[in-house]
Amino acid sequence: MKKIYARTRHFIFKLLSRVLPIPEPEVVSGPGSTARCPEILKADGINNVLVVTDQDIAKIGLIDSLLESLQKGGITYTVFSNIQPNPTIQNVEEGLKVYIENHCRGVVAFGGGSPIDCAKIIAARTTNKKPVKKMKGLFKLWRRVPFLLAIPTTAGTGTEATIVAVITDPEEHEKFAINDMKICPKACILDPELLLGLPPHLTSTTGMDALTHAIEAYIGLIGTPKTNKWAVEAVKLTFQNLEHSYRDGTDMKAREAMLLASHYGGKAFTRAYVGYVHAVAHNLGGVYGLPHGLANAIVLPYILELSKDACADKMADLAVAAGLGDASEEKQVLTDKLINGIRDLNRNMDIPSTVKEIKEEDIPTLAKRIEEEGNPAYPVPKLLWAKDFEKLLYKLKGK
Ligand SMILES: [Fe+2]
Repeated sequence: MKKIYARTRHFIFKLLSRVLPIPEPEVVSGPGSTARCPEILKADGINNVLVVTDQDIAKIGLIDSLLESLQKGGITYTVFSNIQPNPTIQNVEEGLKVYIENHCRGVVAFGGGSPIDCAKIIAARTTNKKPVKKMKGLFKLWRRVPFLLAIPTTAGTGTEATIVAVITDPEEHEKFAINDMKICPKACILDPELLLGLPPHLTSTTGMDALTHAIEAYIGLIGTPKTNKWAVEAVKLTFQNLEHSYRDGTDMKAREAMLLASHYGGKAFTRAYVGYVHAVAHNLGGVYGLPHGLANAIVLPYILELSKDACADKMADLAVAAGLGDASEEKQVLTDKLINGIRDLNRNMDIPSTVKEIKEEDIPTLAKRIEEEGNPAYPVPKLLWAKDFEKLLYKLKGK
């Protein structure tokens, strides 16, 4: 019965993914493209913005080139950087206050996933007078948001291209997602110069998040020809460039390619959704504080192993796109090559293959929560249940 219910929901998602007019942000890219920020804002008649970033970025001066270009370009700005690593509703409300006090007319989000997500919700709050808690879920915003421009400084979340923003409610000890087309940025700048100093471990784990978005969007049941094209391209770019970026952070071409991979991954998953890798990663993150990209990287080969019978054709396509095999080879050979290719990539970037933090006594509850998050929300190729996740968690623990 649960299976029929899940598959019916997935069928409805599939129809929706074909008709929903999810916007695509205008993309400006290339080394030094941050300098084009004033031009993009002025084209939309914006001359006073709230720049949302986090304290670390403000401290290390990564944002200086943006602020200089805004000043030179005659754009008035106010920087709001009081954001926690997992932004809270309180952070959003403070940002909203600064936006109103300074008569801003647009929002520029600068940073990794957290400041960009926080900026999306600040923008939503400026015109939608409901509390952030009431924005939880799908399509709860009634009013358009002001001009929102995103400038990612990591290559992984793809949030500059998505309709999703995640926020923490400390009162309820809950992290939740707001999904609405209105919070998809109008434009984004993909400037590889901003990533040249990103440390190797952040490069690898955020990059594996991008790879996970692309793979889960592609093997899921609701992909469209467009999302499939983006996902395949993201997989190809990641296998060609992620390890290079990890080994030589100053390789501008590799950084640029990974920004694009992340962007394509974001465009694919915001329409075709993610799968169980994310369900497991979110729960491991919630209980043990495991960073999102790291958790995805570790879990990805395990979920592919469990799902491969149901999506061998698609995994074979991805193995070929990744340059791990030839289209003439047997599907089963190619699926194994994809899984082993991901394991090798992890190993080469010092990403472990197990999660030692998992405690045996937590496993039943974790498995139940993973099932609750994944079913029926994620249109996965093979349905798994709590008992499957229990076995998986033991394997992940290294038992
Ligand atoms: Fe993710």
